[in-house]
Amino acid sequence: PVAVRVQDLVGRMTLEEKIGQMVQIDRIAATPDILKNYYIGSLLSGGGSVPLPQATASDWVNMVNEFQKGALSTRLGIPMIYGIDAVHGHNTVYNATIFPHNVGLGATREPALLRRIGEATATEVRATGIPYVFAPCIAVCRDPRWGRCYESYSEDPKVVQEMTEIILGLQGEIPNGSRNGVPYVDGKNKVAACAKHFVGDGGTTKGINEYNTVTDMHGLLNIHMPAYYDSIIKGVSTVMVSYSSWNGIKMHENHDLITEFLKGTLKFKGFVISDWEGIDRITSPPHSNYTYSVQAGVQAGIDMIMLPYNFTEFIDDLTYLVKSNLISMDRIDDAVERILLVKFNLGLFENPIADLSLVNEVGSQAHRDLAREAVRKSLVLLKNGKNGNDSMLPLPKRASNILVAGSHADNLGYQCGGWTITWQGFSGNNATSGTTILSAINSTIDRDTNVVYLENPDSEYIKSNNFDYAIVVVGEHPYTESAGDSQTLTLADPGPNVINNVCGTVKCVVIIVSGRPVVIEPYITSIDALVAAWLPGTEGLGVTDVLFGDYGFTGKLPRTWFKTVDQLPMNVGDLHYDPLFPFGYGLTTKTMVARSVSTAGVEGKAYLPIVMMFLFVGLYFQGKFLA
Ligand code: IFM
Repeated sequence: PVAVRVQDLVGRMTLEEKIGQMVQIDRIAATPDILKNYYIGSLLSGGGSVPLPQATASDWVNMVNEFQKGALSTRLGIPMIYGIDAVHGHNTVYNATIFPHNVGLGATREPALLRRIGEATATEVRATGIPYVFAPCIAVCRDPRWGRCYESYSEDPKVVQEMTEIILGLQGEIPNGSRNGVPYVDGKNKVAACAKHFVGDGGTTKGINEYNTVTDMHGLLNIHMPAYYDSIIKGVSTVMVSYSSWNGIKMHENHDLITEFLKGTLKFKGFVISDWEGIDRITSPPHSNYTYSVQAGVQAGIDMIMLPYNFTEFIDDLTYLVKSNLISMDRIDDAVERILLVKFNLGLFENPIADLSLVNEVGSQAHRDLAREAVRKSLVLLKNGKNGNDSMLPLPKRASNILVAGSHADNLGYQCGGWTITWQGFSGNNATSGTTILSAINSTIDRDTNVVYLENPDSEYIKSNNFDYAIVVVGEHPYTESAGDSQTLTLADPGPNVINNVCGTVKCVVIIVSGRPVVIEPYITSIDALVAAWLPGTEGLGVTDVLFGDYGFTGKLPRTWFKTVDQLPMNVGDLHYDPLFPFGYGLTTKTMVARSVSTAGVEGKAYLPIVMMFLFVGLYFQGKFLA
């Protein structure tokens, strides 16, 4: 049994080897020799540390294997574990399938879909030789001013709890449906998951990243903790600690919550990982008393420390702390046992060197179809017709002249958002492959319909061209973590101008590409139809599937849509709840049946032979009857 193997191995390790296992460094700071000489237990590609621009799956496999050989050449040959964020698909390899960010997935309300997305993500990540993802983010974002709000499935703890189903897709189902909370990874195509960031990351004051969450125990247990219960029952392998504080105490030094509650009360048996330089930030300014920080973090119960560059100081300090009895060997053994358990579960000891057998899975048609399905289910229709009964959607595919406007219509980078290829996301269409909303419109629309695309058209031009209707795509620019904190939540320029120019002149549907609700109330009366598309990822065809009626709108708001920012924070169930659109809101449209038979892709086409068969049988009997 794994437990026996773990015990045996730990029993043979020196202090130096044990401390090495607890260290995670960025691949930028690593060489195979460094892994060997310091017994480093783990590597990461932080944010978007891509090995090469447009790195392919085989580039990744080769790089990971080179490092692994360094780890394997140590005395005990313990494999290292490589981790990557992969928060909406494998966001660091060229051509990967990029799924909608979590806020959009929350709008689907479909846990089974999340499980399939987890499976696809695990396969694409494993295809690149990586066995570990820092996902899912199970933050309950209570204030959209937080720059990581799009990484949260919902403001509602229940929705977030349900969406932890993705863990079963990433890691596999615990055998016999036991869901017994023992960390579990099922074989070669699965990865170890990480529930993050423990705990209260989404509850900080004014949504300020890494800040303080002020709430009592009841608030912590009922809003921010429930998704951890579910994740642990589903066998999540690791938990990442939050940069934030709870009532003034940094989570990275919170022994009561990490050791007593998470490992004790909740019986979490996997390993706890720090956030990037999370230990350094225990004391501020960083390094003002680094030895204290190391002691506080390890003593609080953190098992693996994401350092990620300056690792020798950590190793020296922890060695000193253990040798001076300021940290017990039991604490070190507990950390190492947890790390080795996950490595054994992953099969890393049996198969440490990745092969190229899965590389064609990256960006496969099946995964892109799944992402497209997720996009169409994530879209929330907020308004359809100015007077309630003059619905604008679905749009006709056949028209003489239509206008597409806005900076977000033809920009794959904007569509994907942060955590895509680079840490802060990218702009433009060339960093990865996929379909923009504009190209999806062009390939969906009737061939005879003239499509004009202008990023920021002026109203005189619009007046002088007879457009049947306009599709305006505006939103936010990509951002990640603190860079995304915003106290204004306005549309990026020239978004407001585009809405004013276009919607004042021609019938328009506005599609908002954003990680959260944004200020829309000032323009709402001029807009005929309004769609929240969130950050849909690489598959723009999911947007046109519902826009043109091949599928109906079904998404429901995972968040409250505010009128003005001074109402924030405002969440469902609050006393003074006066939103523009409430949590759970979402109009529906009917599928245009005739279209779906000819263009709906797999589902529509599957019915075609059956329809044809009935037609022929009908004609046959009709012929007989007439004869
Ligand atoms: O996993 C992330 C975390 O969510 C934020 N800080 C960096 C980590 C590694 O990239």
